[in-house]
Amino acid sequence: MTESAGNKKEDCHAANGVKPGRNGMVKNHHHHHQYQKQEKVYHAACNGELYSRPFMESFEETPMLVAVLTYMGYGILTIFGYLRDFMREWKIEKCHIAREREEQKDFVPLYQDFENFYTRNLYMRIRDSWNRPICSVPGDKFDLVERSSSDYNWTFEYTGRVVKDVINLGSYNYLGFAENTGSCATAAGDVTVRFGVGVASTRQEMGNLNMHEELEKLVASFLGVESAMTFGMGFATNSMNIPALAGKGCLILSDELNHASLVLGARLSCSTIRVFKHNNMQSLEKLLRDAIVHGQPRTHRPWKKILILVEGIYSMEGSVIRLPEVIALKKKYKAYLYLDEAHSIGALGPSGRGVVEYFGLDPKDVDIMMGTFTKSFGAAGGYIGGRKDLIDYLRTHSHSAIYATSMSPPVVEQIITSMKCIMGEDGTTIVVTQVGIFILCVAIGIPDLIVKSDYFSVHIGGLDKHWTFIFVLRCRSRIQRLAENTVYFRRRLREMGFIIYGNNDSPVVPMMLYMPAKIGAFGREMLKRNIGVVVVGFPATPIIESRARFCISAAHSKEMLDRALDVISEVGDLLQLKYSRHKVLPSLDRPFDETTYEENEE
Ligand SMILES: Cc1ncc(COP(=O)(O)O)c(C=O)c1O
Repeated sequence: MTESAGNKKEDCHAANGVKPGRNGMVKNHHHHHQYQKQEKVYHAACNGELYSRPFMESFEETPMLVAVLTYMGYGILTIFGYLRDFMREWKIEKCHIAREREEQKDFVPLYQDFENFYTRNLYMRIRDSWNRPICSVPGDKFDLVERSSSDYNWTFEYTGRVVKDVINLGSYNYLGFAENTGSCATAAGDVTVRFGVGVASTRQEMGNLNMHEELEKLVASFLGVESAMTFGMGFATNSMNIPALAGKGCLILSDELNHASLVLGARLSCSTIRVFKHNNMQSLEKLLRDAIVHGQPRTHRPWKKILILVEGIYSMEGSVIRLPEVIALKKKYKAYLYLDEAHSIGALGPSGRGVVEYFGLDPKDVDIMMGTFTKSFGAAGGYIGGRKDLIDYLRTHSHSAIYATSMSPPVVEQIITSMKCIMGEDGTTIVVTQVGIFILCVAIGIPDLIVKSDYFSVHIGGLDKHWTFIFVLRCRSRIQRLAENTVYFRRRLREMGFIIYGNNDSPVVPMMLYMPAKIGAFGREMLKRNIGVVVVGFPATPIIESRARFCISAAHSKEMLDRALDVISEVGDLLQLKYSRHKVLPSLDRPFDETTYEENEE
């Protein structure tokens, strides 16, 4: 799975006789010239001329001993699972899971087959790590409803207590817009009072509010495309629109790690689906070439359409799509490109416009720009952007446009306000006079001028009309803040000796746990120390690649990240999670400078 990206990197270096760092990263600033040279060589070897920025991703190989122990762990669990199933069969142990009804015993089994084995015998042991109810806004911290189980996780009871102020390292709140105070929350509250919460109709009937149209215009201008359309649910945006874009006789080329909504959309479209290795351009090109050479099976007619499905940031790997190469391939083979920016919109690019901006590409080169409002915008729903004729076609052909009730007004308002805030268009654009007055204030030394370092917000006492200036600074800096937090957090984890996956700039940070027993243990130990994390295992990951998945937010302060990192280190020592064979020397105390760490070859 992860090999593709890692191998590719190594191939590139090897091809040029340049030895990569052992974690696949290029070396530090002490060898700055060498660094630049290596980068250049690397990119030249990997279609480097297509990239406007360094592309650094690492997927350290699983250490052999860890892999063996992980397989042994699963082996032992499987043996015990069979033993317990045997005891359940003979009613020695109580069976809590759904069983076949006696009168249906001649039917094909519904519940107790082997597929259920994993749920019965492994998942149940660590089930307390998921579906935990929270009872506050999922911001930088949240409150958790405490629960306990007296029957080994088969059922839970609430204790009536609330665990307060848990540091939130799990929500997709990249830009910190999941908040219950501030301009977005106020605007959404006002709209709820004016419009109510429900719309009670579809867009085509009575559910087309003026604010839906305003939102679509705003999304189109944010993305830099001709037109855009919004939907009430991100999952349905994929699963219901792909079938409107491709059908029988079409070929869909899908990355092996694509999200379930893309996979479902592809399946529902009745197109032929072929899967390429994750972010592996050789694999994609081979499929494209074969598709052009051989055409459709049996008839060998050309495919009606070839559609490539990829994501901006992959939420389990923390990898960023090699978009410049994908675009080059889709142009070469005249295919269409569908890009899902659920995790990258708002989180990547100097002004938060996603992976296209991150690589300095033209949005017109992506045929279908899809994304969701659930992550960076702290709201709900999804969008599709592209050429006007494409969007007009979708308005009449997409199931989620015709048959689904339109988006709730407060949700629309949350998206509009947060997006305008990101764009600096919420009536807060810095005009020359405001800048002039600000400079004047500084020059004459107005006594209550406060410059806060957090978010770089500026408060000019007594000059209320210039509060607008504050918002521009606050909102622009969320993107900056996220980028800094991401680089800092990733670097510190590497320095501590953890194996972390993905791109240096990805706010999704997977940290490898590998062994099944450590999935539950890590989540529990972290929560005991008031840090909320998401742990992930099979089937969301390959069976031996269980991991914790941290999501970094602009809302996290440096103190919060430091606290979380200290706890991760402590739990990492306790559970022996520092698997990395590469020693990264701690940098000097320059927390936000990504070039200050050095790799030490053992
Ligand atoms: C890549 C991707 N696409 C689509 C979705 C579905 O979006 P939503 O949760 O907004 O329905 C997700 C959800 O996490 C996702 O990760």
